[in-house]
Amino acid sequence: MEARPSSALGGRAQVPGDKSISHRALILGALSVGETRISGLLEGEDVLNTAQAMRALGATVERTGEGIWSVRGVGVSGFAAPEKPLDFGNSGTGCRLVMGAVAGAPISATFDGDASLRKRPMARIFDPLKQMGATVSMVGEGGRLPLTLSGPRDPIPIVYRTPVPSAQIKSAVLLAGLAAPGVTTVIEHEASRDHTELMLRHFGATVTVANEGPHGRRISLTGQPELSGAPVVVPADPSSAAFPVVAALVLADSDITLTEVMTNPLRTGLFTTLREMGANIEELNRRDDAGEPMADIRIRSSKLRGVEVPPERAPSMIDEYVVLAVAAAFAEGTTTMRGLHELRVKESDRLAATAEMLRVNGVKVEISGDDLIVEGRGHVPGGGLVATHMDHRLAMSALVMGLGADTAVKVDDMSFIATSFPNFVPLMQGFGAELT
Ligand code: S3P
Repeated sequence: MEARPSSALGGRAQVPGDKSISHRALILGALSVGETRISGLLEGEDVLNTAQAMRALGATVERTGEGIWSVRGVGVSGFAAPEKPLDFGNSGTGCRLVMGAVAGAPISATFDGDASLRKRPMARIFDPLKQMGATVSMVGEGGRLPLTLSGPRDPIPIVYRTPVPSAQIKSAVLLAGLAAPGVTTVIEHEASRDHTELMLRHFGATVTVANEGPHGRRISLTGQPELSGAPVVVPADPSSAAFPVVAALVLADSDITLTEVMTNPLRTGLFTTLREMGANIEELNRRDDAGEPMADIRIRSSKLRGVEVPPERAPSMIDEYVVLAVAAAFAEGTTTMRGLHELRVKESDRLAATAEMLRVNGVKVEISGDDLIVEGRGHVPGGGLVATHMDHRLAMSALVMGLGADTAVKVDDMSFIATSFPNFVPLMQGFGAELT
């Protein structure tokens, strides 16, 4: 696919439902008694794989309309052993959260995924689950997929300090802790997205949260609750909104509005950073649903300048650095993004792949330790072919870059965009983007 230099973007649209919340709604629905009705579910490949896994584990999962799904759960510890390996495709979140949920049931399940997921570390998930009594076997080299995980009859509640700030690790431990007698505690030295905690409460569990140091949290879940199915309205995904947001900022005279975007402060580090760079991003109609704040956001093109992004901001914008690097390339001056070690273990090595994406398009960029340094010159030459490494966010970021560059930018593979933002191309074209 090719993105060509485009003129001003305009209009109003809603990006698809939040991926993190969509996975969690299906999983918690499957662990509840009664019906969970979900509206606005992201119908991307990652989430559809989680829906399929919930069916394979015994829940009834039905699509009743566009984005409208019904889940009838089996209750905490009620999962049945699946007949076949569970295939999570490209999705680290689906795979890792379901590993936690399976560790709370006395069954065995085999977990697998595509070539990208097979390269990603899984020991960070099964190490704490083993402490809770789970066993793992047939693990791929270096703690990779495929692997078989067996839940214990009686999981042990633990106190676990996460080695890196990761909502996936935290969520896996809490989901396994649902089946444990007593209190399971996760301590994180930097707070990661809290959708699991908020949704557990929404389904009837007791979760307490206390601050831990200047940026961290201590989260405690009382085990063996009776979870009851509850309605979930999924707000639009700020990580998907990030692409039209950056496109509108860098294309002169643009003015777009994105509706119902989730604005949970543990997800909005990109908006904070862009505002520091001089971006005109306005939040309108602020409201709340099941503890998740949302707003309509209006974005107008802005002259951006380089900034320093502190490492403690990384958890609140971990999926947005690729597109921030694109914004930084269009800015005037240097942008330094610090503390990006976790980017190396995403759908691709995003640190290396982002630097390469910029270099092939004539942008000066450097990786220094875990920091990414982009020299913004106010414009991007473009003309490059970007290798996307089975990574949806690289593909979308490169295309956004092409819309504002001096000459068109091509990507080698756009198929992975369907994992998180299936209507990315028509939505961007609706705003006026030239994508073919
Ligand atoms: C996610 C957590 C993040 C993020 C991923 C979604 C989640 O991963 O990168 O896209 O829904 O919990 P880590 O928690 O491993 O940083």
